[in-house]
Amino acid sequence: MTQKIFIKTYGCQMNEYDSSRMADVMAPHGFVRADTPEEADLVILNTCHIREKASDKVYSELGRLRSLKTARAGEGRQMIVAVAGCVAQAEGEEMLRQAPVIDIVVGPQVYHRLPEMVARARARNRIVDTEFPAVDKFDALPESRQVEGPCAFLTIQEGCDKFCTFCVVPYTRGAEYSRPVRQIEAEARNLVLRGVREITLLGQNVNAYHGDDGNGGECGLGPLVDVLSRIEGLERIRYTTSHPRDMDDALIEAHRVNDKLMPFLHLPVQSGSDRILDAMNRGHTRQMYVDLVARIRAARPDIALSSDFIVGYPGETDEDFAQTMDLIRTVGFAQSFSFKYSPRPGTPASAERKQVPEETKARRLEILQAELTAQMRRFMESCVGRRFDILLEKPGRYPGQMIGRSPYLQSVNVVAPHARIGDFVTVDIVAALPNSLKGELAGRSGSRQVGRN
Ligand code: SAH
Ligand code: SF4
Ligand code: F3S
Repeated sequence: MTQKIFIKTYGCQMNEYDSSRMADVMAPHGFVRADTPEEADLVILNTCHIREKASDKVYSELGRLRSLKTARAGEGRQMIVAVAGCVAQAEGEEMLRQAPVIDIVVGPQVYHRLPEMVARARARNRIVDTEFPAVDKFDALPESRQVEGPCAFLTIQEGCDKFCTFCVVPYTRGAEYSRPVRQIEAEARNLVLRGVREITLLGQNVNAYHGDDGNGGECGLGPLVDVLSRIEGLERIRYTTSHPRDMDDALIEAHRVNDKLMPFLHLPVQSGSDRILDAMNRGHTRQMYVDLVARIRAARPDIALSSDFIVGYPGETDEDFAQTMDLIRTVGFAQSFSFKYSPRPGTPASAERKQVPEETKARRLEILQAELTAQMRRFMESCVGRRFDILLEKPGRYPGQMIGRSPYLQSVNVVAPHARIGDFVTVDIVAALPNSLKGELAGRSGSRQVGRN
């Protein structure tokens, strides 16, 4: 009998990847994707623990699911509710106590065991599995069959050993682990066979990647990009999230020589103050970041950068914040994500006495975001007049219009009546809209694409 699975994803791209893999795991057991929880027999919330707001959302969603589950039971049908991801890993058993609606709590390292957990939940058991097993989850996962569109994520590295003082990831995702090169290559080839043209390699610390190269050695991210770029039909490669400390020469060299590696790099810096960077345990100074950016730009002059920032880290003064603003102006970012510091249970920074008042955080965030938004606008406007290859992802709002992605991940609208999803088209950018660009067809470019114009 066909059953339906609904998965709601919070948090980062790694969670998005895991959600699609959970769907892959359940597919051989007769589960097809549902668009709403109302029609689903199995609902999975794939949760994020990074900031307080993110984990709070889960409990309000569980409240809604409770009434749905009761209504279902009234119709004589069972609805199974599973909580996956980083809140599941962090809170485990405790979640069952907090939310009686939950049947399954499953951590990010064991979701390949979902089918047996679901079978046990059917028999009215409640299950918690948040182990970090020795057996490799990736070996147990089936091939991806449910590829949607020409862009895909591929997790190559998991976990983190860096222990930044504000961050829960080392606790929720465990120690750093790199998948072997052959396993990644096989997954990439399978994706390309299913129509994928662009792959984003994922890891909490993706550039710390050091996988088994199959010859008794280790392979870093730069050489891995080279291996993958030889796959015919794979036209674009990206990676995220990188740590400034792990940008090695081989990776910078890959940006210089490999045309399939897109000229857009997310390189979080968090703060521009040496004092705060040190307190955060980031392991680099402001100057090291500035120098690194200079080396990357020398290798690939058209590269654009994005970053993450935290304001109001414990003990952050006006002077520290001024340093962050100064770094932003010095480097210049095409895009950014910024957050108020959120104390997280079990992390060293949450125990600091000198927490910054909420109003100060809010004020600093506003100032920071105004500058970052202005920089983003300037970057978008600087794209007008440039010629880009666009990978078409979906139909636009009007007949004949399509929406694709630029090398810099911007959404681009273009009227291209004869093109199909998955095609590359060359466009001239004619306008910068609030959140996207407008392009005009310059001529069909088949499957070759160039990022550097
Ligand atoms: N591995 C990545 C970050 C992953 S978390 C890195 O090292 O850069 C994504 C972003 O969330 C971080 O870059 C940081 O800016 C933000 N973040 C993490 N913990 C946070 C916290 N406790 N409060 C506010 N923002 C936080
Ligand atoms: Fe968190 Fe730091 Fe690891 Fe990034 S590098 S995941 S911010 S501990
Ligand atoms: Fe959130 Fe976990 Fe990703 S805490 S950001 S879902 S690694």
